Amino acid sequence: MAVDRSVALIGAGNMADALLRGLVGARTISARRCIVTNRSNDARLRGLAARWGVRTTRDKAQLLRDADVVILAVKPADMAGVLDEIAAHVTPRHLVVSVAAGVPLATIERYLHGVPAIRAMPNTSTAVSASATALCAGRWATAAHHEVARALFEAVGRVAVVPEALFDAVTGLSGSGPAYVYLLAEAMVDAGLRAGLDRATALALVAQTVLGAGKMLVETGQDPAALRARVTSPNGTTMAGVGELERRGFSHAVREAVERAASRARELRDALA
Ligand SMILES: NC(=O)c1ccc[n+]([C@@H]2O[C@H](COP(=O)([O-])OP(=O)(O)OC[C@H]3O[C@@H](n4cnc5c(N)ncnc54)[C@H](OP(=O)(O)O)[C@@H]3O)[C@@H](O)[C@H]2O)c1
Repeated sequence: MAVDRSVALIGAGNMADALLRGLVGARTISARRCIVTNRSNDARLRGLAARWGVRTTRDKAQLLRDADVVILAVKPADMAGVLDEIAAHVTPRHLVVSVAAGVPLATIERYLHGVPAIRAMPNTSTAVSASATALCAGRWATAAHHEVARALFEAVGRVAVVPEALFDAVTGLSGSGPAYVYLLAEAMVDAGLRAGLDRATALALVAQTVLGAGKMLVETGQDPAALRARVTSPNGTTMAGVGELERRGFSHAVREAVERAASRARELRDALA
């Protein structure tokens, strides 16, 4: 869905590039209505301008003058400095969207009083427009602001609305989640090598298996347990393999991993406060 808004992006790193791919690359917003800034890396800004046709500036007052939506894509540790810099130029007519992990809406709202703000937690699959993004709205954001943010993140994947109190949990689940799947894929490739396949073939088979299973989950909307039951015939090969995983505590380990990552997110958030 096209979004008829001017967007200012503060931060020009990996997340900004991934967002531009979905937003400008897929024509969700028009390149000429998108302006990007960073702190000091000129080559990076030139690269983004060349790749996506967006405008760039170092003047935050100018950046914010024409913007409807301001996306904050800086590291959590740089957020306070950025909020301080922009506070005088951001008004309640703007919508501020932060993707910074561990920075609460209350912090943003303390610097930007009365300004509608939305917090988003995308994941690294934003780079291929397949992010799982959690969104929650701040105290001054309306349903209309929420819809704008949703449309922006639906351009780079799928969106779930989640209370902010669960954002650490989301960080441990879908934020860190791609790495859990990569670990599974690594182990599967290793198993393929041990069985005699060459690396390229094992990787191709595993990558497509992960993609296919993900597509089944998304496109059928079925519960993973139901999908698993459908491919597990009694006494068959899959049942043997899944049984071995469960005997070795696979599900338990994954639950513990998500909890540990969530508690690490909490620790990092507390360290920023
Ligand atoms: N990467 C992911 O997959 C992912 C997933 C979920 C959430 N996030 C969140 O996204 C945010 C950005 O992550 P990233 O991976 O894109 O980081 P990154 O590649 O390090 O980029 C950070 C950007 O912020 C800019 N910056 C820092 N201070 C600034 C200032 N005062 N004014 C303007 N720009 C400033 C930097 O500019 P210079 O290069 O010029 O210093 C750089 O362009 C983080 O808060 C992270 O938690 C990332």
